Amino acid sequence: MPTDQFSVDGCNAIVTGASQGIGRTIAERLAADGANVAICSRSQDRVDPVAEGIREEGGTALAVECNVREPDEVEAFVEATVEEFGGVDLLVNNAGGEFVAPFEDISENGWKAIVDLNLHGTFHCTQATGEYMREGDGGCIINLSSVNGQHAAPHESHYSASKAAIIRLTETLSVEWAPYGIRVNCVAPGLIQTPGVAETLGIQEEQMPPRETVDRRIGHTEDIADVVQFLASDAAAFMTGETVTVKGVPRAGNSFDVDLGLDG
Ligand SMILES: NC(=O)c1ccc[n+]([C@@H]2O[C@H](COP(=O)([O-])OP(=O)(O)OC[C@H]3O[C@@H](n4cnc5c(N)ncnc54)[C@H](OP(=O)(O)O)[C@@H]3O)[C@@H](O)[C@H]2O)c1
Repeated sequence: MPTDQFSVDGCNAIVTGASQGIGRTIAERLAADGANVAICSRSQDRVDPVAEGIREEGGTALAVECNVREPDEVEAFVEATVEEFGGVDLLVNNAGGEFVAPFEDISENGWKAIVDLNLHGTFHCTQATGEYMREGDGGCIINLSSVNGQHAAPHESHYSASKAAIIRLTETLSVEWAPYGIRVNCVAPGLIQTPGVAETLGIQEEQMPPRETVDRRIGHTEDIADVVQFLASDAAAFMTGETVTVKGVPRAGNSFDVDLGLDG
């Protein structure tokens, strides 16, 4: 069976939030398969080693300090990418984050910070990159939502609302930009072991069950990179507007096991 259609070789890709976690693994995976990868995070010092690691493995990487909440920084990041690679075919809107709190304890600033990072960050990067894709040969956009954007997520209302909005944005843009040859899809991970999640939950690597099983509480970053590579490749040429859930068989309840005090 031919497998060339799963390749991203030669693709010019942007991956946001790639200094660690899911974004880092996605960037490393795309580069290992031959994509030119532009990566960003809020800190040049944190994103440089990732690019250096990719180059040491023979890949091509550009590292730029860019806060996706700032439209001017995003504009400059995308321009630098186009200048370096000659264009951009793939955008992975990965940068995101949250904190855990009951709705009544979330301040206006806290609410806005999470929506600004997850939703407006996606807006800024998609606006800046889409311009080049529409003027060129089209492209592919992959947004990171979450299972917590698909159902109730107690103590994550700001996160859940922003990630649900990303799913609707994906669907709407897939229709609006179909005439330009731009596919827009979304990945909704369940709980994935990353530095961000480890910090929130205190989960260590050794607490993770083996990757061969699907009935595990927590997944690996490679589980998401596999699906992103597929969506980015020609193998997904007839897929757009979709949200692919990647969650194995999680334990019942919410992902952070928040005690809602409902047991008595
Ligand atoms: N891990 C999970 O269980 C899970 C589940 C569902 C969905 N997701 C989604 O998957 C994505 C990645 O999650 P993760 O767990 O890998 O996160 P993580 O370990 O916390 O890493 C987040 C990455 O985003 C960067 N970042 C944060 N704020 C940024 C900003 N304003 N501008 C640019 N970069 C920024 C961070 O870099 P710096 O700190 O260096 O800026 C870091 O590289 C997020 O969108 C998350 O919501 C994760």
